[in-house]
Amino acid sequence: MAFFQIDNLSKSFGGLKAVDQLDFQVEEKEIFSIIGPNGAGKSTIFNCINGLYKPEQGKILFKGHNLIGRRPDQIAAAGIARTFQNLELFAHMTTLDNIMLGRHLSMKASIAAVLGLSFKRSKAAKEELQHRRKVEEIIDFLELESARDQFVSNLPYGKQKLVELGRALALEPDLLLLDEPAAGLTQEEREDMVFWIRDIRDLLGITVILIEHNMQMVQNISDRILAINFGKPITTGTPEEVLAHPEVIRAYLGEDITQA
Ligand SMILES: Nc1ncnc2c1ncn2[C@@H]1O[C@H](COP(=O)(O)OP(=O)(O)OP(=O)(O)O)[C@@H](O)[C@H]1O
Ligand SMILES: [Mg+2]
Repeated sequence: MAFFQIDNLSKSFGGLKAVDQLDFQVEEKEIFSIIGPNGAGKSTIFNCINGLYKPEQGKILFKGHNLIGRRPDQIAAAGIARTFQNLELFAHMTTLDNIMLGRHLSMKASIAAVLGLSFKRSKAAKEELQHRRKVEEIIDFLELESARDQFVSNLPYGKQKLVELGRALALEPDLLLLDEPAAGLTQEEREDMVFWIRDIRDLLGITVILIEHNMQMVQNISDRILAINFGKPITTGTPEEVLAHPEVIRAYLGEDITQA
């Protein structure tokens, strides 16, 4: 049984087949990248995995369980967290509070306490403390101490991307979906992002599926790559194999994609 597997997945918008009978598998603790030109269907795959879009056909199997038909919160609770291509943070909240929000799924007692339900105060307080501790660990892990109490809107873009990563980690996922984590970053911030993603896999043991346009980064970081175009696979393999594949090069209009 594969750790994560997509079988025959299709998603259309009107007449447009954004994802077209796609298959792929990801092994536990892999860093697996999905590449392809703009509009190839990459983000649509993520939106199907995390339950935002309902595919017309296919299976999405996570540890052997089909995710199709489950709600985004149920899929998150099953251990799949994601970041978005366009930052989705609360700009007028602090780093700490944004990351704390990533834990809301497991905050049953705290929410119950707020609503005046049956949990005892002491239990809610204990849970709250555990969540705080976890969030502080993530802030330490991503070296976000100096940003901890700042509004996210006041942080440089590279730090905001890290806060979003932190919020996804707060879910303590087994699988992390990163949609263009290095888009808009400087070269230095991009190198840092590679470092964080490696650490997330190596130190936290989290499997990563990455969508990324920067081919240098993809080449550096990926165990394997799936290249797609028009919602269909071109090829899957090691970075060397995929980035040298004639159809992949053609899809990128012949540019030297390792220099992109
Ligand atoms: N909600 C939607 N409604 C209609 N069309 C959509 C929707 N989401 C995606 N599409 C279309 O599906 C196709 C695939 O889009 P998708 O966002 O998955 O591409 P992508 O590979 O992530 O591209 P990019 O690299 O530009 O982010 C595109 O033609 C897009 O316009
Ligand atoms: Mg996209």
